[in-house]
Amino acid sequence: MTNSLTQRLEQVYAPVIGWASHIEIVSAEGCWVTDVEGERYLDFACGISSVNAGHRHPKVLAAAREQLEKVWHAGGSFLYESLVSAAEKLIGITPPSIEKLFFMNSGAEAVEAGMKLARKVTGRQGILVFRGAFHGRTMGSVSYTTSKAKYRQGYHPIVPSVFVTPFPHPYRWGMTEDEATDHALLELELKLKHEVTPGEIAVFLVEPMQGEGGYYPAPPRFLHRLREITKEHNILLALDEVQTGFGRTGTWFASEHYGVEPDILLMGKSIANGLPLSAIGARAELLDAWPPGSHGTTFGGNPVSCAAAAANVDALGELIPRVPGLSAHAFDRLNELKGRHATIGDVRGLGLMIGIELVKKDRVPDPDAYKLLDRFAKDRRLLILNCGPDENVIRFIPPLCVGAEELDIAIDIIDEALTEYERR
Ligand SMILES: Cc1ncc(COP(=O)(O)O)c(C=O)c1O
Repeated sequence: MTNSLTQRLEQVYAPVIGWASHIEIVSAEGCWVTDVEGERYLDFACGISSVNAGHRHPKVLAAAREQLEKVWHAGGSFLYESLVSAAEKLIGITPPSIEKLFFMNSGAEAVEAGMKLARKVTGRQGILVFRGAFHGRTMGSVSYTTSKAKYRQGYHPIVPSVFVTPFPHPYRWGMTEDEATDHALLELELKLKHEVTPGEIAVFLVEPMQGEGGYYPAPPRFLHRLREITKEHNILLALDEVQTGFGRTGTWFASEHYGVEPDILLMGKSIANGLPLSAIGARAELLDAWPPGSHGTTFGGNPVSCAAAAANVDALGELIPRVPGLSAHAFDRLNELKGRHATIGDVRGLGLMIGIELVKKDRVPDPDAYKLLDRFAKDRRLLILNCGPDENVIRFIPPLCVGAEELDIAIDIIDEALTEYERR
């Protein structure tokens, strides 16, 4: 079907990226994409949560198109309206502690900027991160990433003075949420007693819900305790909401579920509904202490991406109120499936960021079940992704314009695939 394009790709393109499929698409609308042969696929991969408002959302499309007709690059040379409008709109939806922003292009760049800012303004070197986290692929961001050892393999030495401590994974550890929280907090306490003093730590970098690492929401007590410890020791708290942001969990940012306000907020992916843009947000006092010229970018805050980001705030503002109802429907149905399929060990998440963990007996990860499901789903014209170090957790992340009927189509396909797998 797409052989010739695949062959051409292999001639000219590095094989380094792990494509989820080689389906050649030619157009996209809402939750659906269409391939070169006119077949429509339900897109529950959602650009790894980068097109939360749905493909080619009309408001975002109109704003980007209008900007494209005027000017599409100004990079550090001129001022333009769309950058300031986007920043104003985004400040309006971020937590109250976020007073100013700076734009870049990718999530990894936002993370890098956050860590540079933290070191610069605190004068401390230590960066504390959580096992299972994903923060990006650049040399700095990969040094904070421990979702899979493969991401760091062959790249050492990586950035020094990065300290890793466990993030609670109750299901994987065979513990209750409380037990896992106690365990992770004890390990953190020991880390700060035996390996590094709190006074040497600039920042705690954490995802409020781990994404790539396996779709684990932080237990509320855990995130609250991190906020307390950081305040006690004048350590900054940076929340990486690159994947959890922009309505994915049913609120603008996942931190709203917890009532925890970050000092630094890292944003990307759906910020401009699929156009390249990312941002660091922080208290004004912190961003004002970053001297001009000590950080910068050529393409960051591109006029077209900024126009899209401003319109995207309006688009998502209409879609986010739908998420809790759709989420309840999805959780009800997926938990019902869990009752019937021994292969489903756990269903967890927030809003429409749901992880479905596939296992054998005794919670042993079952990547083969995911492989069969992936093939089955593609045959039925559904695109999904996995996550977790064992690649056995289904990411259930539809665009937020999804309807209950489309949720049901995807859940029925998962049901049928697991029935076939378990029959073998
Ligand atoms: C939580 C988180 N942080 C950072 C990144 C890196 O973003 P990018 O791939 O845009 O550099 C990702 C990407 O998946 C992510 O999920």
